[in-house]
Amino acid sequence: MAKDSQNKKIVVANWKMSPETIDEAFEILKKVKETAKTLKNTKLVICPPSLYANELKESLGKSKKILFGAQNVFYEEKGAHTGEISIDMIKNLGMGYVIVGHSERRILGEDDNIVSKKINLVLNSKLNAILCIGEKERSEEGDFLLFISEQIKNSLHGVEKKYLKNLIIAYEPIWAIGKTAEDAMDSRGVHQMHLFIKKVLKDLFDEKSSEKVAIIYGGSVELENTEELIENGNINGFLIGHESLNADKFCKILKIVDKS
Ligand code: 13P
Repeated sequence: MAKDSQNKKIVVANWKMSPETIDEAFEILKKVKETAKTLKNTKLVICPPSLYANELKESLGKSKKILFGAQNVFYEEKGAHTGEISIDMIKNLGMGYVIVGHSERRILGEDDNIVSKKINLVLNSKLNAILCIGEKERSEEGDFLLFISEQIKNSLHGVEKKYLKNLIIAYEPIWAIGKTAEDAMDSRGVHQMHLFIKKVLKDLFDEKSSEKVAIIYGGSVELENTEELIENGNINGFLIGHESLNADKFCKILKIVDKS
């Protein structure tokens, strides 16, 4: 299956607003760490709640087997912005990835204009941006394809070609998030969306540059559908929510992806 620009698959764990205590977070990390050591073809990025990030990261020492990411960033670099997290804070903690435009943030009012400011900030700061896109629902007429292409174009407004190697697009149809493997998109649908997103990128930039963008799938990726999606979905990896908090299952997912 397709791999990212560094020729590795990528699995991003989005812990969202969980777990409730840092002790639980350490428990998950302890188990995942053992599997991470064995990975040969897979990059693993964990995006914990930002309050936990520093301690978790420090606990791993210099090991690069688990990379860390932020779940969000503010679009202004400095200033009085209560509750926000700046790009320099993320960078100074040594976190190399930032999720931008997750549907759970877009629902709170984050539009494509804000998303593009954040994407540009992340990429211009030489960090890796994970841009989330996805439609709320589908109709027979296929309007969602226009929605997706507009979302990509608007979110990437102002992005320079040279930064595309640091861009990951996470296709997460909203209707498939937070459910079960049965409700997720099937591998055929994922494959089609991969091709469509690549085409939009090609039209927006050029063929060579768009090849550098890794495309991953998110939305009820569970142990049950991992193998089918990675073998037949033609994707570079996954963005995983709830199943990434179940350390045992998540470790099995990592092994399946690594073997594919
Ligand atoms: P689930 O894996 O819980 O469906 O969440 C997907 C997601 O939103 C990851 O960002």
